[in-house]
Amino acid sequence: MSLAHRQPLTENSFLRYLCGMNGLSEKIESLKKEIDAFSIQNTQELESYRIHFLGTKGLVKSLMGEMKQVPAEDKRAAGQLLNEFKVFAEAKYDLAKDGLENNETQDNETDWSLPGNEIATGSRHPISLMRNRIIEIFQRLGFSVADGPEIEDDWHNFTALNLPEDHPARDMQDTFYIQQEPAILLRTHTSNVQIREMKKGKLPIRMIMPGRVYRNETISARSHCFFHQVEGLYIDEQVSFADLKQTLYFFVKEMFGQNVKVRFRPSYFPFTEPSAEMDISCMLCDSKGCSVCKKTGWLEILGCGMVHPKVLENCGLDSNKYSGFAFGMGIERPTMLKYGIKDIRLFSENDIRFLQQFTGAY
Ligand code: PHE
Repeated sequence: MSLAHRQPLTENSFLRYLCGMNGLSEKIESLKKEIDAFSIQNTQELESYRIHFLGTKGLVKSLMGEMKQVPAEDKRAAGQLLNEFKVFAEAKYDLAKDGLENNETQDNETDWSLPGNEIATGSRHPISLMRNRIIEIFQRLGFSVADGPEIEDDWHNFTALNLPEDHPARDMQDTFYIQQEPAILLRTHTSNVQIREMKKGKLPIRMIMPGRVYRNETISARSHCFFHQVEGLYIDEQVSFADLKQTLYFFVKEMFGQNVKVRFRPSYFPFTEPSAEMDISCMLCDSKGCSVCKKTGWLEILGCGMVHPKVLENCGLDSNKYSGFAFGMGIERPTMLKYGIKDIRLFSENDIRFLQQFTGAY
């Protein structure tokens, strides 16, 4: 006798109907068909399958829950049917899960022929581009690269470079000081690294020293309170002004082209003697005179000279035995010339429209 006869089927209690063994096996057959037809192509569908059949409120659990209403004589058979059903439902789940994990091609929603997402690689800052070009040229002449601190003490930035306190040349390079500790400052040039390298006492020295420097300047299109320099230093026995000129000629021709003309003008730096400033012919107007070269046909690009004997002695080097040359050039100016940049402030405004113009440049 089936339960269906004992307990009339009400609309909202189909499970009670299932308690008749025939009804139960029929129901399970139809649920198995439902399971077979259930399409699991991705993890969302896998999860809705799990919730629908295997979850705490899923069909397998509710069928199990109905076991208590099965009369004692049918319990064994019903239990077996339900158990088989549970294994059936779980097997589909496990298979689909493994399939999704191991074989993603099951995911029909992914169109593998589509192009991938673009990876933004960024680009080098124009100052870095120019610095790297300068480094690369000097490396070919056997110069190595050295580094020094931007937060410096007065001695390395001024005194050791023959710029004692109250020396008028300090006025040209006013900088930022820490009020409580006036001997600490932001370096005004990369020449502090000359001192640090010479003090190490390892000779000969053939180095370039790129870095950021600071000055208390009014910010305008032409000058900023921070900018970049590359320092050069060559110390050995019998280094002469001829070596300085030849090194800089080579650099300028590599950098600006073989046709560029060069001139040296006498100048003054407390840490070099003799001192000079080096100009190159203006490539923008072919030396005819324009607003960039201020109608002179020449562009000033660096300061240089023979390292002052006093500076060598300050660093513990024998100035009778050793001599050398040094030079220092700004990076911003040649970068502006090369790329036609009219305002120095653009370099530090972080405007992506400006920076993106250097994508792919080298
Ligand atoms: N330090 C000097 C400046 O910043 C440049 C320089 C370096 C001159 C080395 C001579 C030798 O103006």
